[in-house]
Amino acid sequence: MRILGIETTCDETAAAVLDGDGRVLSNVVYSQIPLHRKYKGVVPELASRAHCAKIADVVASALAQAGCPARKPFDAVAYANGPGLPGALLVGRTAAGVLSRLYGAREVPVNHLEGHLLACELSDGKPRPLKFPLIALIVSGGHTELWLVRGYGRYRALGRTRDDAAGEAFDKVAKLLGLDYPGGPAVEKCARSCSGSAVEFPRPLMPGTHEFSFSGLKTAVSYRMQAKAGLNKADVCAGFQAAVVETLAAKTFAAAARHGVRQIAVGGGVAANSALRQRLEEAALKEKMTVRFAERKYSTDNAAMLALAALRKIRAGRAGAPARVNPELKIKSWAGGS
Ligand code: KG4
Ligand code: ZN
Repeated sequence: MRILGIETTCDETAAAVLDGDGRVLSNVVYSQIPLHRKYKGVVPELASRAHCAKIADVVASALAQAGCPARKPFDAVAYANGPGLPGALLVGRTAAGVLSRLYGAREVPVNHLEGHLLACELSDGKPRPLKFPLIALIVSGGHTELWLVRGYGRYRALGRTRDDAAGEAFDKVAKLLGLDYPGGPAVEKCARSCSGSAVEFPRPLMPGTHEFSFSGLKTAVSYRMQAKAGLNKADVCAGFQAAVVETLAAKTFAAAARHGVRQIAVGGGVAANSALRQRLEEAALKEKMTVRFAERKYSTDNAAMLALAALRKIRAGRAGAPARVNPELKIKSWAGGS
């Protein structure tokens, strides 16, 4: 069996092919970053148009790199039916629909954020299965969420951000500081030149809840910049990054303690951040817990993670029927239980 994954939820046009054991046979990502760079953020209409223009080439490359036979290149096609940008989602869903009819393959809709979690399993060989129960921290440009996960397809959403996502906060702070886009990697790089006295910022901990709020932190950076001209950007970046990392770590470990869970898995673009990885790894070691991250190439948006999510559904006999796109799609159990 081969599964084609198609990812077009935001600003990456991606396609990947996995075999029936979940090995990645190809993983093609066309990044639209150069297109959005001058706006320092994703322009939805430009993203949709670029997905339309690129999707056929990206899929063709993925099929060719995987050595798929022309007559029956894949048995199933996975796509994200949400969450994401409405126009961008429609391009992926339409491409998946056309390809499934053309090749008699089954369509498997998956939640993009579930893909970010399962990205933790992807490797150069067979996937490395997650151990359950676990607390999932999904941290991307559009989402910051904590879930209690009892097995494949057994999700309970614990909390999410009330305003900005962690990645969004990185992007906005980078913009404030005149750094490159996307902001996460730019802030991380700049923070490495910190003088040793990082600027102190508040930790938005929202005690007693599993929720997050990062917009105040971004505003604090803005006020601090206005209050003191000539602040060292690297010290601001280091302080901001530390506040985000500390908040994510504290809330994730609090959720694990609350639910008696010893495993943590972290997915989404912000999971590529070295400071976050280091902080969570150190805390896990101290607490004798385990933490899993998606490999960096699978942390940011890609289609292999969607194909793997689809494979888990197919193997469980829960592939489902084609589904409409839903930009606000929430994580939901598909395997029964909670
Ligand atoms: O998961 P992703 O590729 O797309 C969404 O689903 O949103 O995440 C993109 C987000 C952007 O906000 C980007 O700035 C952030 O992930 N990001 C990072 C890093 N690399 C990407 N944030 C912090 N540190 C990084 N190294
Ligand atoms: Zn994503």
